[in-house]
Amino acid sequence: MDYLKIQGNTKLGGAINISGAKNAALPLIAMTILAKGDLTITNLPEVVDIKTLLKLLGNLGAEYTFENNVLQINTSGVHHTKATYDIVKTMRASILVLGPLLARFGHCEVSLPGGCAIGQRPIDLHLKALEHMGAKITIEAGYVRAEAPSGLVGCDIIFDKITVTGTANIVMAAALARGTTTIINAAREPEVVQLCEILRDSGVQIDGIGTAVLKIKGSDTELVDMKSFSVIPDRIEIGTYLCAAAITKSELTLNNIRLDHLGAIISKLEEMGCTFTKGEDSLTIHPAATIKAVDIVTQEYPGFPTDMQAQFLALATQAEGVSTIEERLFENRFMHVSELQRLGADIKVNGHTATIKGATKLSGTDVMATDLRASSALVLAAMVADGETSIHRIYHLDRGYEKLEKKLEAVGAKIERLKE
Ligand code: EPZ
Repeated sequence: MDYLKIQGNTKLGGAINISGAKNAALPLIAMTILAKGDLTITNLPEVVDIKTLLKLLGNLGAEYTFENNVLQINTSGVHHTKATYDIVKTMRASILVLGPLLARFGHCEVSLPGGCAIGQRPIDLHLKALEHMGAKITIEAGYVRAEAPSGLVGCDIIFDKITVTGTANIVMAAALARGTTTIINAAREPEVVQLCEILRDSGVQIDGIGTAVLKIKGSDTELVDMKSFSVIPDRIEIGTYLCAAAITKSELTLNNIRLDHLGAIISKLEEMGCTFTKGEDSLTIHPAATIKAVDIVTQEYPGFPTDMQAQFLALATQAEGVSTIEERLFENRFMHVSELQRLGADIKVNGHTATIKGATKLSGTDVMATDLRASSALVLAAMVADGETSIHRIYHLDRGYEKLEKKLEAVGAKIERLKE
């Protein structure tokens, strides 16, 4: 297994090119199940989760090539509809094939994803919504078996909780349903917006894009004549590198970004004392001489993103004063805390709230990545710790960050990937 060795007291400088968004790419790849003929998707990040979902689609019969961030795919050959445990257990977002497979074929089996580090991650809202659209859903031997032999029927869906992949699943199912589906309490994340925009640009009638009420007029199982497209930039990758600049008190420019996706992240960094120079599709961060403590509550978009919680928690260890971070979306998303404490951080967790005493000198040691975003938080802390830090189990990091150590090394970080 690989690990990262990082020298502390790092200074960064220069520019980083941002990759396509993993969490936009995953539903967009699942969406190709709805497409007629060949399709090209560009700016696709070469990360493990993307390769896993492509492998799943290949197992179902899709044909594709994926190189240099370009995917050429044709799903007309899909003739299996069972997403097996061996793949689904490695990536819960595989559940995104449920809606499209059911809508196109009228039946499918998708393994229940099983446990996840950051929380129980149920899919009850996905299943309840599909049942409401006429599907018969049973759970057998760890698999979701879904059947809708006469097709799905559009209806009103009210999500009890805002769910990103739940919204994506139902948007895709509704695109091929008979009649109109209204989704109330829909997720408004940019990743969901892009999925809706691509479907609309391909001829599916969707109203309310970017709002909490989506109205989708289905094609009654007619496949979509899908247009090729490019994946939006990864707002969480952007936020992660902004935190790298802030924590090392370095000026850094990020290219290929979407400013309109970064409101909550930029606002919180400004509150901590950073300032910004904004370009058309670039952003330069000017670090705070003294990082101010803050209070953060994670929320659904456009609120502060839970996927930035770990990175800001690492940053808060270097702020002047005491910060608090309340994690409202997941029940177990503080596993980076005990690893940061190994580096010397002064953090107390009480229920869903972490209290971070700032201006703490960190000292390098061996630490262990526990999940995707926790891994990047450890990289940030290691760059300001005294001495050397080794971060183990970085297969978590490789799921969602493209060439992270190469991008940081190119702007001055002393970071290398080694074999255990
Ligand atoms: C997406 O996960 C992202 N993953 C997550 O990013 C992100 O943290 C999360 O949205 C929240 O923004 C992808 O897009 C692939 P949810 P998702 O359904 O869709 C509860 C990363 O680091 N819920 O919006 O699985 C759930 O337990 C990953 O890139 C139900 O109760 O999240 C959670 O408390 C981690 N029942 C809340 O809703 C359901 O059926 C939000 O979950 C579905 C969800």
